[in-house]
Amino acid sequence: MPENKALWLAAKRAPFTFGPAPYTAPRADEIVVRARAVAVNPVDRLQQTMGDIVTPWIPYPFVLGSDVAGEVVEVGAGVTRFHIGDRVVGFAAGSDKSRNRAAEGAFQDYVVLLAHMASPIPDALAFEDAAVLPLGVSTAACGLFQKDFLAMKAPSAAHEPTGKTLIVWGGSTSVGSNAIQLAVAAGYEVVTTASPRNFDYVKRLGASQAFDYRSKTVVADIVGALRGREVVGALAIGAGSGAACVDTVAACQGARFVALATPAASFDDVPAGRGRWRRLAPAIARMLSGSLGLALKARRKGVRTKMIWGSALIANEVGPMIFEAFLPAALAQGRFVAAPRPTVVGAGLAQIPVALERQRQGVSAAKLVVTL
Ligand SMILES: NC(=O)c1ccc[n+]([C@@H]2O[C@H](COP(=O)([O-])OP(=O)(O)OC[C@H]3O[C@@H](n4cnc5c(N)ncnc54)[C@H](OP(=O)(O)O)[C@@H]3O)[C@@H](O)[C@H]2O)c1
Repeated sequence: MPENKALWLAAKRAPFTFGPAPYTAPRADEIVVRARAVAVNPVDRLQQTMGDIVTPWIPYPFVLGSDVAGEVVEVGAGVTRFHIGDRVVGFAAGSDKSRNRAAEGAFQDYVVLLAHMASPIPDALAFEDAAVLPLGVSTAACGLFQKDFLAMKAPSAAHEPTGKTLIVWGGSTSVGSNAIQLAVAAGYEVVTTASPRNFDYVKRLGASQAFDYRSKTVVADIVGALRGREVVGALAIGAGSGAACVDTVAACQGARFVALATPAASFDDVPAGRGRWRRLAPAIARMLSGSLGLALKARRKGVRTKMIWGSALIANEVGPMIFEAFLPAALAQGRFVAAPRPTVVGAGLAQIPVALERQRQGVSAAKLVVTL
């Protein structure tokens, strides 16, 4: 049996530690992957500092991480899509309440994945490129395709133009980069926001127009650009995006729905240890007042909003829609690219906390990756 090592979170709010981990064989619908590259996400940091609030069900010690690319080393009895040696990318679902297993966290050498949440990758796609995909594409897909969110048509090679427009606020984020491509692949026009330095980037991904989210006139500018168009709703990513999207869709023609990726307040400055309560109380107050303010604005303007949970697709038709039906062929044929580009922070599990700290300082149209 292979020797496994993991980046452990020994207890809630503990510092990460690096050490041996059991190797877990796959159940019938699972595969085991030798991780070669993992990416870090804002939620990984939040789970370390705020796990008792964000994912209170987690049994410690635990292994975090959602994004992994590597080689299949073992295949569950019921799995026919994969074979030992296949190069794959997959969504590590260990932190979802329905999975809740350290064996399914990405931050270890041998990761158990749900087979329907993994895709084969073409030989030309490096593991560090592929690793940027899973949580970004999953969160975007949850907002776009779940029936209780924007309920858009599925992406496919043979899509018909729908004649409708999706607003993606925060198109240069990891979630936004995937949302733009998924919506275009489903036959929608995409209008997005980003910093001007990333306008070319979001247009290369398929957005037809880009606006600066820092501009005082951004909402009016988007509303003006969409005059005469039918919108399918908005995906709100980034601080302040929820309120801006509510204002925008309320003034446009079409569906009055905003799928929210970003919470009403950030907990980024709340440390796990010393000084926690001094920072936590105001952050909770900001969250409550921000959520209430957004709910009141949405009600006043007749707009529905709903917060995305980025792993919800593991339990519905959207997971297989993306990881089985769409991504394998779309990646192989170059119809979908792994974006944003990876910045490799280093090699080895011990580099993951370094990547998380760099992530806290902010990235722009880039995803931080560690090779293993
Ligand atoms: N609900 C869920 O399940 C779920 C899952 C994953 C992520 N998220 C959330 O989604 C958000 C994005 O996550 P990510 O990993 O995709 O982020 P990311 O790629 O790390 O975000 C970096 C990008 O954020 C953009 N940005 C910063 N402030 C912005 C603002 N006010 N409006 C629009 N864009 C802004 C920057 O754009 P420029 O450089 O162009 O300025 C930069 O490219 C985070 O809030 C994250 O917590 C939620």
